[in-house]
Amino acid sequence: MSSSEGKIITVIGSGLIGRSWAMVFLSGGYKVKIYDNQPGQAEKAIIEIRKQLEELQHAQMLRGSLTAAQQLSLLSSYDDLAQALEGAFFVQESVFEELGAKQSVFQAVEQHVGEGVVLSSSTSCLLPSNVFATVKNKTRCIISHPVNPPYYVRLVELVPHPETLPAVMDVTYTLMTEVGQAPVRLKKEIDGFALNRVQYAIIAESWRLVQDGVISVKDIDLVMSEGLGMRYAFIGPIETMHLNAPDGLEDYLRRYREGMKRVLSSFGPVPEFSGEAAANINKEICELIPSDQEHLSARRERRDQLLMGLAKLKK
Ligand SMILES: NC(=O)c1ccc[n+]([C@@H]2O[C@H](COP(=O)([O-])OP(=O)(O)OC[C@H]3O[C@@H](n4cnc5c(N)ncnc54)[C@H](O)[C@@H]3O)[C@@H](O)[C@H]2O)c1
Ligand SMILES: *[C@@H]1O[C@H](CO)[C@@H](O)[C@H](O)[C@H]1NC(C)=O
Repeated sequence: MSSSEGKIITVIGSGLIGRSWAMVFLSGGYKVKIYDNQPGQAEKAIIEIRKQLEELQHAQMLRGSLTAAQQLSLLSSYDDLAQALEGAFFVQESVFEELGAKQSVFQAVEQHVGEGVVLSSSTSCLLPSNVFATVKNKTRCIISHPVNPPYYVRLVELVPHPETLPAVMDVTYTLMTEVGQAPVRLKKEIDGFALNRVQYAIIAESWRLVQDGVISVKDIDLVMSEGLGMRYAFIGPIETMHLNAPDGLEDYLRRYREGMKRVLSSFGPVPEFSGEAAANINKEICELIPSDQEHLSARRERRDQLLMGLAKLKK
């Protein structure tokens, strides 16, 4: 018997991310109860999930060892929170990114679940101290921040509240690994978590280089997609340093320490991301990809197709 058999996970919020979480947990053989406070919304989510699972099965990209029909038989929808939470050992919240909404959801959830149930939030930008401020027992609370689309991009950042028990981090880490995600543990909460802090550093320097007339929008995007991105799909920045000098990291530091510090100390201030620079950068990107729905959807579809191929390759 696998460890998921018969175990229930409740997903709260049936939007883009709630539906993706449901699919990820179903792939691991968990029973998933999906709830939304908009009546009928959770039921509609099932229709959408069915369509996606069938397409994935057709494309031979379905995750897990169960068929699409078997996975769908584990899924149910609720308009009633208490019913949705009955029997769950893990709750994944994915409602609007509004502090008040999340706080009231968790306050309500706590009324309906037993002591050992883990309360997990998908928030991208809110800190655990704030999201869980209304929860009485904060030791069971954690943020599990996915990356869009979670079905192909497996990273999940686990961010503890200052009171979160190590056992709660461990249970969440084990669950995420078991359903095929790639969890990472933050040891303490910090604004932006790890992913967005690194992402914003890249965005800021790319923006400054274009704004200062050093390079075009098209070319800075190629620096990532044809350069750094090629290896970052497989190895991170620290391993890159370790491999890029004959004798490893210490050798790299001896060779490049001063150069890195010199370049880093020449970085400009945080950009405003507005005004003339924003207008110019927008004009340049729209010449490459017009910002109407037709062009944007086509590029998003291309992105998802390519990510799917990369996910296959990484397996
Ligand atoms: N979209 C992304 O790229 C992304 C990536 C990582 C994390 N997240 C996070 O995931 C969360 C959800 O984002 P999304 O893109 O799925 O949003 P969304 O707008 O697609 O879905 C939100 C859903 O929550 C429901 N909802 C709102 N209030 C509720 C309540 N009180 N109780 C139950 N359901 C409620 C809505 O009806 C809607 O169906 C946000 O916190 C967001 O920051 C999003
Ligand atoms: C708080 O949550 C933890 C972790 O789930 C649990 O072990 C503990 O019993 C809970 N405490 C109370 C008072 O409910």
